[in-house]
Amino acid sequence: MEDDDIRGVVEVLKSGWITTGPKCAAFEQAFAAYVGAPHACALTSATAGMHCMLLALGLKPGDEVITSSMTWVSTVNMIEITGAKPVFVDIDPQTLMISAADVERAITPRTRVIIPIHFAGAPVDLDPFRALAAKHKLHLIEDAAHAAGTEYKGRRIGSPGTSIFSFHPIKNMTTAEGGMVCTDDAALFDRVKRLKFHGLAKDAWDRYSKKGAAAPMEVVEPGFKYNFTDLQASLGLTQLAKLDAFNARRAELAKLYDELFRDVLEFSTIKEPSWPHKHTRHLYIVFLDLERTGLTRDEFLGELKTRNIGTGVHFKAAHLHAYYQQTGRYPRGSLPQTEWASERLFSLPLFPKMTEGDVRDVVAAIKDVIATRRSKA
Ligand SMILES: Cc1ncc(COP(=O)(O)O)c(C=O)c1O
Repeated sequence: MEDDDIRGVVEVLKSGWITTGPKCAAFEQAFAAYVGAPHACALTSATAGMHCMLLALGLKPGDEVITSSMTWVSTVNMIEITGAKPVFVDIDPQTLMISAADVERAITPRTRVIIPIHFAGAPVDLDPFRALAAKHKLHLIEDAAHAAGTEYKGRRIGSPGTSIFSFHPIKNMTTAEGGMVCTDDAALFDRVKRLKFHGLAKDAWDRYSKKGAAAPMEVVEPGFKYNFTDLQASLGLTQLAKLDAFNARRAELAKLYDELFRDVLEFSTIKEPSWPHKHTRHLYIVFLDLERTGLTRDEFLGELKTRNIGTGVHFKAAHLHAYYQQTGRYPRGSLPQTEWASERLFSLPLFPKMTEGDVRDVVAAIKDVIATRRSKA
């Protein structure tokens, strides 16, 4: 957070309108223009966006949605909450993403939606997914929580099609909490917009602003209270203006990590996709060689913590969470590559305000854990 972010929020606080209002509209417009989408709807989180989206698509019990288990579990939870069944295909352990070819093998007459996940700042190979969705008449919804600014074949994620972005604090730009549904489907957009605010035909700003002053409050279907606020939207506008610079700085830091890890045999790093893309380095993910270190990933992260290095696990495979294990639908061993990665991966600190010295400190701490372990072995 910099002075412009703080100033913007203070201005909104003094403006007399703090909830969904003119700043939200401006942020939606600016984000839509940035990704090239005809429609954008801001809401409280990407999770809320996925919830509204799946209901807007009319998902119901018995339907199947094909996705990846290597994701933040919210993607999967939202499918489950509609009563539909999440169906997982295994990932490529190099990129942590699923392929259209594997998805095609999992399609059944009950399949309705495919949700690929753009991972860590890289895009999935979208063309085969688009072709597959068209061939089987399925909806393609891109989980773009990691992909603000990511490009696929020279075009930003967010258009064409339907994508859902997250502005949670660890994302490349943040609004404290928040999400954005971008789509070129006007009917889907109207439905998501309605579902995010009680199912009302108009939202609060539409009613209070001059253009909608006389509009009555009319619930046309039951909906949620997932609306975004002008306080968050102000952050969205100032952060969006800096997103490309943030992403460029992340790329520099990631390159330095790459160089410093070249001689560390106990690690491998997530690989770049082979298709044309622009990576935004949302996460810097490494895999720990458990055999070589003789430590579990969690033991290794504990050692790093005692050296003041914070890390993240992105992600524990969704199907291994207690709830999904209890369903009995996803036995351990059913997604070998996802489970392999889930046991070994972790994310290193990476944010634009990091200095090169910070990166070197992280790598030094990691090398110290390894050296200490070797000396005990
Ligand atoms: C892949 C993925 N999808 C969805 C989400 C949900 O985003 P939000 O926290 O905005 O609901 C996240 C958040 O971490 C994520 O990583």
